[in-house]
Amino acid sequence: MTAVGIDAIEIWTGKLRLDLPNTFAPAMGEDPEKYTKGLGLESSSFPDVYEDIVTMGANAAKRLMDRKGLTPDDIGRIDVATESAFDNSKPVSTYIAGCLEQVYDGDFHHANKGERKFACLAGTQSIDDAYNWIKAGRNRGLGALVIATDTALYERGDPGEATQGAGAVAMLITENPSIVELSTEQGYGSADETDFLKPNQQFPSVDGKRSVQVYLARMREALEDYESVSGDTHPDDFEYIPFHTPFPGMVRKAAVLGYRHMTRDTDVEEELAEEIGMQPREEAYDTREDYEEAIRAYMDELKETDHYREWYGRTIEPTLEISRNVGNWYTGSVHIARLAALRDALESGHDLTGKRLLVGSYGSGAQAEIHAETVVEGWEEHVENIEVDDQLARRYDISYDEYELVHDVHNHEKETDVDRFSPPESEFVFTGWGRMNERR
Ligand code: CAA
Repeated sequence: MTAVGIDAIEIWTGKLRLDLPNTFAPAMGEDPEKYTKGLGLESSSFPDVYEDIVTMGANAAKRLMDRKGLTPDDIGRIDVATESAFDNSKPVSTYIAGCLEQVYDGDFHHANKGERKFACLAGTQSIDDAYNWIKAGRNRGLGALVIATDTALYERGDPGEATQGAGAVAMLITENPSIVELSTEQGYGSADETDFLKPNQQFPSVDGKRSVQVYLARMREALEDYESVSGDTHPDDFEYIPFHTPFPGMVRKAAVLGYRHMTRDTDVEEELAEEIGMQPREEAYDTREDYEEAIRAYMDELKETDHYREWYGRTIEPTLEISRNVGNWYTGSVHIARLAALRDALESGHDLTGKRLLVGSYGSGAQAEIHAETVVEGWEEHVENIEVDDQLARRYDISYDEYELVHDVHNHEKETDVDRFSPPESEFVFTGWGRMNERR
């Protein structure tokens, strides 16, 4: 069977940086440790005043096409995943194709274009669509460009303001991929939920605390569903487990839940239960509430064991490295977690060839998807050329007053000079509604 998976990845970060513990927390009268220790965030990326989901997506895609030496003729499909779309008719992929056609010979007239929406899950769903298209033999030997692009901004004063971010991830999905091969098995956890909505409004309406619980419930269901097709999982089956990361503290909660699930009824659980002094078995409790309370107590103890800490430090913590510096990229978030994992392996000389990742994607509304990927030979060469550090370092640090201005500009309440913060450098820029984005 032909292998299908991710052949190339590039990112584009919003070009402004908001320092959360040192700039945002003092302005909000909050303890900086809420950010660094509680949420696990250092800074978030913000879109400059001339950036939006189209320019960030097009800039990431151009970077990918240039590195791979591609032209429009090599691409048969462009799917954009976003929850920040501004057009209810025309997909964002057409705007991005329009940008790219300004700089390449040829055009994307032959390419199937679309837009996927299921909150942050849509990036993974777009990869699934591309996978199915290739597996069905409809791709005529061409690759699919998947672009996950979002500006995750919340209303000022909303608790979500702590977890903002902006950026795009472009990925090329092909036969015989150079980075990871996708497996056929997937698991889902899906339910109609109303904790996070954006019905024809600029900023989301969020019940933040509930959104955390919904994330965990759907992720657990997805893991169970995944195991129903893959067989039982064990924490050591996977070298890294990249999760959707709205903020690293969320993943800390998901990781312990996943670990507890994967170790149930195993020797690991037995040993841990002995160490911790309890073993939550449903039949031992009179009510469901008592049982759930016991599981919570068990997981609190579990987090502190050497066994768990070692596993968490090896498979989860490295996936958070980019996120903690850029915040939430919604549809791109789980894909920067995967990228962070691959970069960690590269930096530590850990050969991942033939090894597996378990990827936990999630979208509010709500649905989680779990699937496995296998890293393919030669992955190192393709990961080491992805530009991440320089981009993050080049961001312009905004003060709190500048943050307020930028936020208002993106909310169409104010305007400011394009060159005010980080002047464009040979990139696509937003030049006004109804006009083609230009490259400057
Ligand atoms: N030192 C150390 N830790 C501290 C601290 C301090 N001084 N102050 C607070 N903390 C800890 C808190 O204990 C808490 O940790 P736990 O959850 O582990 O208890 C954490 O820091 C956050 O503190 P609060 O709960 O007080 O923060 P908050 O009330 O401002 O809300 C939030 C946090 C609900 C996540 C909010 O930022 C929010 O609504 N975010 C947007 C929604 C979101 O991201 N939901 C995630 C699931 S939905 C999803 O994943 C889809 C998506 O992308 C949006």
